[in-house]
Amino acid sequence: MRRIGVMTSGGDAPGMNAAVRAVARRAAAADVEVVGIRRGFWGLLRQEFVPLTTDSVHDIIHRGGTMLLTARCDEFLSPAGQERGAGQLRQAGVEGLVCIGGDGSLRGCVALERLGIPTVGVPGTIDNDLGGTDATIGFDTAVNTAVQAVDRVRDTAAAHERTFVVEVMGRSTGFIALEVGLACGADTVLLPELPWTLEGVCRRLRKDSERGGRHNLIIVAEGSGHGFELGKRIEESTGLDTRVTVLGHVQRGGSPTAVDRNLASRLGAAAVEFLLSGQHGVMAALQCGAVAAIPLRVVTGTRKAVDPSLHELAAVLSSNE
Ligand code: F6P
Repeated sequence: MRRIGVMTSGGDAPGMNAAVRAVARRAAAADVEVVGIRRGFWGLLRQEFVPLTTDSVHDIIHRGGTMLLTARCDEFLSPAGQERGAGQLRQAGVEGLVCIGGDGSLRGCVALERLGIPTVGVPGTIDNDLGGTDATIGFDTAVNTAVQAVDRVRDTAAAHERTFVVEVMGRSTGFIALEVGLACGADTVLLPELPWTLEGVCRRLRKDSERGGRHNLIIVAEGSGHGFELGKRIEESTGLDTRVTVLGHVQRGGSPTAVDRNLASRLGAAAVEFLLSGQHGVMAALQCGAVAAIPLRVVTGTRKAVDPSLHELAAVLSSNE
């Protein structure tokens, strides 16, 4: 291969820049030209191509967001859009593609691969919900950002002896909520994957305050319930003074942690190596600490499951019984 493309797609994740840098510099080390595709699949359809050299990725390893910009693109969901995208790559002489993104982006990779474009995915999403990899780029940073915020909320919750509901991101999975809940000693952690009832949550809160508990922390994943609605219902049902904080997109920004920078550097470089060695239709993944190539079809066909024993552990360790 003489020329490859790289794009970031879907929701941005801290560490995407470090991955783009790794792709550009690993390719340069092999004398392979790199074309940056701006705004993900949306930009691909509009030929938003920029040359990427070792210089153009200077000074970005520590930055959140993505220098290539990103977008969600409905047009690319249609077979006609996918054909057009493959055509744009061929026309630009791009012989292989690295796509950094989450589940939807990797489905786009499967489509391009089917149309004859050698493609390698790199898992980039704060949600950590991709099968086949121990971690996704951005998850560690998002969790640490949320932990810092929740620690601050805890201070004011304790000072005012209040109950707090903190809503964290995770549209359909609770990886962020679980990790944050365990790290912050939350009293209750609500995930889309595990059933819960308002009555159960309130029962635990009442029991806790009967035993002398003076403040409470509930972490809810956005896909499991709306923070404000939940807070209102808890206050109505228990009479506890309750406040709500929705962390939202704060979790998507900021400088990536060392964990995310290094994961991005390893997976970005590996993606290039896979392409150059003729391995494609795969995702560069982390498995038991080592880099591995996992077929894209396996990744997009499976859903990573949260570990229910961690949820139990969070409940046991936060109990005052
Ligand atoms: O996929 C990552 C994510 O941050 C989810 O946790 C969240 O539900 C979603 O993106 C928000 O997407 P958008 O920024 O497009 O509203």
